[in-house]
Amino acid sequence: MTQRTALVTGGTGGIGTAIVRRLARMGHKVATNYRNEEKTRAWQERMRADGIDVFTVRADVSDPKECASMVQVIEEKLGPVEILVNNAGITRDSTFHKMSYEQWSEVVNTNLNACFNVTRPVIEGMRKRKWGRIVQISSINGQKGQYGQANYAAAKAGMHGFTISLAQENAKLGITVNTVSPGYIGTDMVMAVPEEVREKIVAQIPLGRLGNPDEIAYAVAFFMDEQAAWITGANLAINGGHYMGW
Ligand code: CAA
Repeated sequence: MTQRTALVTGGTGGIGTAIVRRLARMGHKVATNYRNEEKTRAWQERMRADGIDVFTVRADVSDPKECASMVQVIEEKLGPVEILVNNAGITRDSTFHKMSYEQWSEVVNTNLNACFNVTRPVIEGMRKRKWGRIVQISSINGQKGQYGQANYAAAKAGMHGFTISLAQENAKLGITVNTVSPGYIGTDMVMAVPEEVREKIVAQIPLGRLGNPDEIAYAVAFFMDEQAAWITGANLAINGGHYMGW
């Protein structure tokens, strides 16, 4: 296996932690951004206790300048970013007729504009080196829509539009660009959905349970494999059968 430098945005979150662990266990050098210092130090300690050393940089993915300097710091410390997972994401759920501009723009900036902010500083290097793996962590709700998530569904659908354009532009340069669209995973984000609403959602999942973050990390690792070199522009749905569109 070739050891590479991987940047996983939002690596301290539910799905992010599982992706960081998996890439580190594969032997890659892993970096992530964070916003909350105290929470991140505690997280880093837990990772260290498991033998995983993660390089962390304070940066808000919704800010293009912070992202450019984050990439610079990571590349100086760990070497060129060859694997990028655009995973950072937030929700600000509300029915659209009650949604504020802040709820709209925070979600679009953090979930979708971040793809520009983080990918733009790494793509040039990947193109020069003629190797790269980029994965967007989108969502089932970008595919099927969701009551109360016009902002989130728009941003998550946009992430796949980004994937398929970037995939075309960079295919000949050894860079694959794919999307993973998780369904409802047992993370803090999903547990924040009111219990009675969540129960109704779980009842719609053919596999009858929430997903596990490791089940998403497994798919991300699959795209990173050297043998996955011919898979680009794909959108892999991992949702317990909750949405089977094709
Ligand atoms: N379909 C149809 N009607 C629905 C509905 C649905 N899915 N959900 C709610 N409603 C109805 C309610 O029954 C209620 O109807 P009545 O007024 O007739 O009683 C009405 O909508 C309530 O509307 P309000 O605007 O008053 O809603 P609210 O302020 O109480 O909250 C909500 C609405 C914020 C959307 C809340 O229902 C909610 O949090 N829903 C969950 C949204 C969700 O799935 N979020 C996913 C978060 S996790 C994630 O995003 C990760 C991922 O990628 C999967």
